[in-house]
Amino acid sequence: MDIRKVAVIGGGTMGNGIAHVFAMQGIPVHLAEMNRELADKALAAIERNLERMVGKEKIDAARKKRTLEHITTFTDVAESVEGVDLVVEAVPENFELKKKVFSQIDQAAPEAAIFASNTSSISITRLAATTSRPGQFIGMHFFNPVPVMKLVEVVRGLDTSDRTVQIVEQMAERLEKTPVEVADYPGFVSNRVLMPMINEAIYCVYEGVADPEDVDAVMKLGMAHPMGPLRLADFIGLDVCLDILHVLHDGFKDPKYRPCPLLVKMVDAGKLGDKSGEGFYTYD
Ligand code: 3HC
Repeated sequence: MDIRKVAVIGGGTMGNGIAHVFAMQGIPVHLAEMNRELADKALAAIERNLERMVGKEKIDAARKKRTLEHITTFTDVAESVEGVDLVVEAVPENFELKKKVFSQIDQAAPEAAIFASNTSSISITRLAATTSRPGQFIGMHFFNPVPVMKLVEVVRGLDTSDRTVQIVEQMAERLEKTPVEVADYPGFVSNRVLMPMINEAIYCVYEGVADPEDVDAVMKLGMAHPMGPLRLADFIGLDVCLDILHVLHDGFKDPKYRPCPLLVKMVDAGKLGDKSGEGFYTYD
């Protein structure tokens, strides 16, 4: 099956990055947002990120123009999935919201269309079961910033067919990413490994072992991480980190995933990292 047209549902940081990488490979993208203002905001973010790539001479101005021409924005989910071969859902991490969106997609998308969710922690099997086509349902987990990060974690739900896995892995390669197939367990592999590290880094601050700058310096200079775990937690969003830790804790019933009380307190205080202007660091 050739993927000729794609719908991306949700134009936030992940959604606009996903639309960006599909369109850059010459694949027409229907990008759906809730209203015109959010759709325009998503398009402006893509344009900015493309301009950054032009500035770094990764692409030329003509490719930027072609990429933008491949993106059409929609404010109606049902309309956006008409005639597409693949739908990538990237709406906020809320099961009821995703279920509602997939019910609209299920009714309006072509029968053969594949459904992928960019969820970072919700069970693919559980989401697939809300649609009429669990065999054509899969996790396509991208990483932020999407145009830069080389991984797509391909999550196989209990009923995902081999054909769906094969098509999505080929698609990821066309996007110049490396697909890595994992089974559907809490946090998949990426967040099951990443979040305990971030949580432990927060415990180091909580217990007074070191301040955030020094925890990050240890991991950057000693382990060659591009960002320290606390800077990365701010970048991901402290609320998102806390949600994923809850999914791991609830899913495995293992106290090793217990969120650090300092993380809980910071989220309660609205200190969510980059997006709120303050987390372990402050931002303009
Ligand atoms: N679009 C396009 N290009 C971008 C970009 C964007 N949104 N953001 C950064 N870039 C490019 C820059 O142009 C630059 O290109 P170059 O290497 O050719 O010069 C390159 O990325 C590096 O950017 P900068 O020089 O501006 O900044 P840094 O060198 O500090 O790198 C970073 C920024 C790429 C974000 C790097 O710090 C990094 O890799 N951090 C770790 C990110 C990470 O771990 N992401 C995964 C988070 S977990 C997740 O997403 C999963 C979820 O489920 C929680």
